[in-house]
Amino acid sequence: MTNVKRILVTGAAGFIGYHTALALKDHHVVGYDNFDPYYSVELKKERARRLKEAGIEVINADINDKHTLFQLMEKERFTHIIHLAAQAGVRYSLKAPEAYIRSNIDGFLSVLELVRKYPETKLVYASSSSVYGLNEKIPYSIHDRTDSQASLYGVTKKSNELMAQTYHHLFDADCVGLRFFTVYGPWGRPDMAYFSFSQAIMEGKAIELYNFGNCMRDFTYIDDIVAGILGALDLDRGNRVFNLGNHEPVTLMEFVETLEVVIGKKAEKRLLPMQPGDVTQTFADIKESSEALNFYPKTSLKEGLSHFVKWGKEYCVLTGFSK
Ligand SMILES: NC(=O)c1ccc[n+]([C@@H]2O[C@H](COP(=O)([O-])OP(=O)(O)OC[C@H]3O[C@@H](n4cnc5c(N)ncnc54)[C@H](O)[C@@H]3O)[C@@H](O)[C@H]2O)c1
Repeated sequence: MTNVKRILVTGAAGFIGYHTALALKDHHVVGYDNFDPYYSVELKKERARRLKEAGIEVINADINDKHTLFQLMEKERFTHIIHLAAQAGVRYSLKAPEAYIRSNIDGFLSVLELVRKYPETKLVYASSSSVYGLNEKIPYSIHDRTDSQASLYGVTKKSNELMAQTYHHLFDADCVGLRFFTVYGPWGRPDMAYFSFSQAIMEGKAIELYNFGNCMRDFTYIDDIVAGILGALDLDRGNRVFNLGNHEPVTLMEFVETLEVVIGKKAEKRLLPMQPGDVTQTFADIKESSEALNFYPKTSLKEGLSHFVKWGKEYCVLTGFSK
């Protein structure tokens, strides 16, 4: 293959990192992940095992371990870094704020220092729709203000964008931040609502819908997200930020109704008030992402959830889904 890239994927044992690394397997890819126990380490190990089968090694180390990170860079001379390692999850940031500062702020600084030392390397990093925080205007545009945050998770992601912009200004670091909107799909994260809702519906257990099921989310299928990440790898040098969202938000109630159809079983719903840290809606304006990254999400919610549920049943030992 001509034009083989040398790519470091951090967070490769994670949900988005796994799919991204796999999609790039024709290039020289090295994964990096500390197998953090925030959710099932077994699931992370299985993703890493499958990557190994595809010829991609996942190094078990922390992004804060600068010695390991810089030595790896010295050896591999990556042309690209796709930085997806982070402490994810909005609600957990109310419980364990330190984990977010350590992995998302200190850890991101390690990665930026790496790019400072190797300025030819292109950095693509995960931001989040959470940076829109208390923004009420929809759809969320990259030109909207993002200085009213609703959670510490959002603060860390917004800080990453500011840190990247500053490293671009000071050291010409080449950075693309991607604001992901509620990503779902096979090999997904058990801490996310679509995963635990599916488990509960299959087992006949009640699910809790906050804000009485009226929150809107722009659920985005993993393959569409990966296509957006790949589209961001070879932009002209600079510092850019893009939305990667489906551009078709649904209420949580509509989402559960689709899941009921896919699973073939009715959910027992408990409607509860809004949770602290949550936002009422997310909705991506993808004009710039379509133009610059050729990002056109293709997967309907029903189709994406069907793939997810099929996978969950097949890997019931890992997912806890009943057949
Ligand atoms: N999944 C979504 O809906 C979503 C939405 C917006 C943004 N994001 C962002 O996208 C990225 C990937 O998310 P994901 O859903 O795949 O989450 P994930 O938790 O499945 O993956 C993150 C991986 O990073 C690893 N990690 C955490 N801290 C680390 C550290 N200090 N050193 C090395 N590895 C570390 C974890 O072990 C995990 O495997 C994250 O930055 C997340 O904040 C995800």
